[in-house]
Amino acid sequence: MTATETPRQPIIIAANRLPVMRTDDGWAPSPGGLVRALLPMLRDSGGTWVGWTGEPDDAAEPFSVEGVDLQPVAISAEEVGLYYEGFSNDGLWPLYHDALRESTYDSDQWDAYVAVNQRFADALAATAEPNSIVWIHDYQLQLVPKMLREQRDDLTIGFFLHIPFPPFELFSRLPWRSEIVEGLLGCDLLGFQRPMGATNFIRSAQELLQADVHDRIIENPSHQTLVGVFPISIDVAEVEETAAGRLTRQRMSQIRARLGDPEVVLLGVDRLDYTKGIGLRLEAFAALLESGELDPERHVMVQVATPTREGVEHYQDERHEIERLVGEINGRYSRIGLPVVHYLYQTLGFEELIALYRAGDVMLVTPFRDGMNLVAKEYAAAHIDGDGVLVLSEFAGAADELTDAVLVNPHDDNALQQAIVTAVEMHRRERRERMAGLREQIQKSDVQGWADRFLSQLNAAPELPPIANT
Ligand code: F6P
Repeated sequence: MTATETPRQPIIIAANRLPVMRTDDGWAPSPGGLVRALLPMLRDSGGTWVGWTGEPDDAAEPFSVEGVDLQPVAISAEEVGLYYEGFSNDGLWPLYHDALRESTYDSDQWDAYVAVNQRFADALAATAEPNSIVWIHDYQLQLVPKMLREQRDDLTIGFFLHIPFPPFELFSRLPWRSEIVEGLLGCDLLGFQRPMGATNFIRSAQELLQADVHDRIIENPSHQTLVGVFPISIDVAEVEETAAGRLTRQRMSQIRARLGDPEVVLLGVDRLDYTKGIGLRLEAFAALLESGELDPERHVMVQVATPTREGVEHYQDERHEIERLVGEINGRYSRIGLPVVHYLYQTLGFEELIALYRAGDVMLVTPFRDGMNLVAKEYAAAHIDGDGVLVLSEFAGAADELTDAVLVNPHDDNALQQAIVTAVEMHRRERRERMAGLREQIQKSDVQGWADRFLSQLNAAPELPPIANT
């Protein structure tokens, strides 16, 4: 199936959040390549998106935005605490990210997770036309595939996990580990970002359920589950188009001037999440200022930290730590009117973000663990000038593809400092060669191609040969 082809059956998407945000005039599509890639596909197939509006206790009626039908699932204020902030983001999220923080395992939170997953499954079962395709997204909804299959075995069900799936040694800590694996095995196609996620899941299915696995096909009593790898991407054309705009170029020059026209702008853009390694990056920057390898008159850092999950304590702690560090570094190295770290705890608009990418000479993407990291891909797409250096953690999914970045192990503080120095001092010729490699890579795989690959595979799923014949 290609981007312009209309899928044969209607597609229904389920994700924790609906792909829209409230504006003064009603609803508008949320920013981001995923939404831009999936909305036209839903519109063309006559499909629906099932999800939460993001507001507690919002029992909104179905509505449509840009010709796409949206079906809200209500989540109460108590469930936001238990299902979203609790089980999803204080239990699963840290566990799935190398247990970087202690997870909370709480049976009230689990009960709310089950209840909300059941509500999604019921909504899907009531909405889906006979024999249609349902594509479920992410860790908040891992029980939905099984719950839905129990009600509607005519549907073809796909699931894509946007975050890493942990090694069995960590996953097995979860008191409800078997239920999660059984939930996911309700689908026909189960997609991961990296081969490691697929391998980790298969091992968990074998260890916990003694699953019968042949060549990435898991045998269930009623059906087979194919496990695949589908690295997600961005809307490359849209980023490039915005990056090329006159207003973006003007804004880029304005940003650099406001920063005091430094020789090198180092940039970090992340959700303020402890998985992103923001503090470590600031510490590396500070150590290089201290050693004199970087100079506050020539090297300036901009760190955008987008507010996220502010009700969860680990996020509050992380924010305090980052803001303490920014204060400490600025107190020590800034000059009047010229901070050495420009810190924005804000959600920036798409155009402003692209202008910032263009203004950034060195982009620092240094997560301890990340499913993919689309910022790394956006930075390369925005650098239509062919210049700029990406420093990228080996622990981001994007490292599998973006091998022309300066790859680094962020746990190694010397290596991180060295990677920053390498990026700052890199000769123009090498910078351009590496950026050409990065850009060539992302051109090959944009978000539309990702969605097409997943859905073509899902369309073929019921036609998989039985195990006996493979
Ligand atoms: O990376 C996982 C993810 O759920 C993304 O899909 C999403 O954009 C991001 O985290 C933010 O999540 P939340 O819905 O918790 O704000």
